Amino acid sequence: MPRCWFVFLFLSFILLLATAEASQCSIRGIPLVRNISELPQDDYGRGGLSHITVAGSVSHGMKEIEVWLQTFSPGSRTPIHRHSCEEVFVVLKGSGTLYLASSSHEKYPGKPQEHFIFPNSTFHIPVNDAHQVWNTNENEDLQVLVIISRPPVKVFIYEDWSVPHTAAKLKFPYYWDEQCLQAPVKDEL
Ligand SMILES: *[C@@H]1O[C@H](CO)[C@@H](O)[C@H](O)[C@H]1NC(C)=O
Ligand SMILES: *[C@@H]1O[C@H](CO)[C@@H](O)[C@H](O)[C@H]1NC(C)=O
Repeated sequence: MPRCWFVFLFLSFILLLATAEASQCSIRGIPLVRNISELPQDDYGRGGLSHITVAGSVSHGMKEIEVWLQTFSPGSRTPIHRHSCEEVFVVLKGSGTLYLASSSHEKYPGKPQEHFIFPNSTFHIPVNDAHQVWNTNENEDLQVLVIISRPPVKVFIYEDWSVPHTAAKLKFPYYWDEQCLQAPVKDEL
C-alpha cells in the first residue's frame, strides 16, 4: 500500500510538471490587455540585455508582426546579424550607435556605417542588411521598442564584419523563442 501511494504521488508530480511546462508555452487563456511590467523578462543568457516579448508569434500567436521591449545596459549590444524580415526601432530612452552595412548584395558586410541613435529617434533596418545596435553611452541604459515582420525571427549571426554572408550562422529558434519553439526551419538565403 505505501508503495502504491509513492507511485501515485510520483506520477501526479510528473503530470503537474508537464502541465506547468505546457501552460508556459500555451497561448490559450492569455488576457487581451496585459501589464508589460508583469510579462516574462529575461536576459536569455546575454549579459546586459533585458528582453520582453510584448506580442509575439510563439508567445501570443501573432502571424505577421512581433513586438519587443529591450533594454541594453551600458556597453551591451546585439550580435552583428541579419534577417529576412523588416524591423523598426523606436528609441524610448538612452542613446547609442547603430552599425549598418548596406551590402547584402556583396560577398560580406564590410565596414558598417555608424549612426548615432538618441531618445525619440526611430530607424528601420532594410531586409537582409547586417547590423548591430550597441549601447555606446557609458552612463545610461538604452531602451528600444522593436517591431519585426514575419515572426518568429530567423537570425544569421556574423562573428565580425568580414564574415561572408554565406558563412553567417543561423540561430533558430532565436534566444527568446527557444523554450517554446523547437522546429528547425530551412536556411532562407
Ligand atoms: C502593472 O504591474 C506593476 C508591477 O507588478 C504594478 O506595479 C502595477 O500596479 C500594474 N499596473 C496595473 C494597472 O495593474
Ligand atoms: C518624445 O517625443 C514626444 C512627442 O513629440 C515628446 O512629448 C517627448 O517629450 C519626447 N521625449 C524626448 C525624450 O525627447
